[in-house]
Amino acid sequence: MIRSQRQHLRQFASLDDLSRAAAAAVVQLTANAIEQRGRCAIVLSGGRTPRTLYDLLATTCRDKVDWSRVHLFWGDERWVPATDKLSNFHMAREALLDRVPCPPDQIHPMPVEAESPDAGARQYEETLRTFFSDATAGPDLLLLGMGSDGHTASLFPESPALGERTRWVVPAMAPVEPHQRITLTIPAINRAMNVFLLVAGSDKQSAFAAAVSGHADPRRCPVAMVQPASGNLTWWLTPMP
Ligand code: 6PG
Repeated sequence: MIRSQRQHLRQFASLDDLSRAAAAAVVQLTANAIEQRGRCAIVLSGGRTPRTLYDLLATTCRDKVDWSRVHLFWGDERWVPATDKLSNFHMAREALLDRVPCPPDQIHPMPVEAESPDAGARQYEETLRTFFSDATAGPDLLLLGMGSDGHTASLFPESPALGERTRWVVPAMAPVEPHQRITLTIPAINRAMNVFLLVAGSDKQSAFAAAVSGHADPRRCPVAMVQPASGNLTWWLTPMP
């Protein structure tokens, strides 16, 4: 099912096994980026699946990463205060940020305090375009999850945001609370040098199969549009019976 030499599939018996392997890969990828470019830009995902990975990066892998050279961004955010337990930043702060010595000015959360979701999206886009000022540059690593409906980041089926080809960050609506989100767009996601798609749970089997089938309707399976322009895509999966 995996066609391109730049797409890889790694399956694991459990989320713990997946997270341990992914953590080792993040450590290696971060070291390579720092060696080659002096820094490593990682885009974090929300949801439950990456939490074990974040915990490992904050504990067993903590001292294997040169956090002084790491910049952290987000792929999407719920339009709630950063202190809200539904905030992706809040989850990352608990699982990772408060436990590693990443310099505060290298942590770039989406600005949910902006006057509106669109203003926040435009402000974050400015942050990204300033950081990735080289026309070809993109994040060294972009973490994504996938919902059972095939959504990724906050790009949900039939969303107008799926058609965005110019902006890197846009407001978006989710069918579940919190409905208001801001999210990276497909063009922004596909600039990444490496995308890790972490997918755990048998309820996601059909969306995964559609995504890698090569003939999914992207409006109904947004994750199928994650095809890094020149980067690598790795699916990290727990078994799907
Ligand atoms: C979010 C994420 C979202 C998530 C998927 C999978 O804001 O929730 O960006 O895209 O990755 O919904 O979530 P789980 O990992 O909890 O299954």
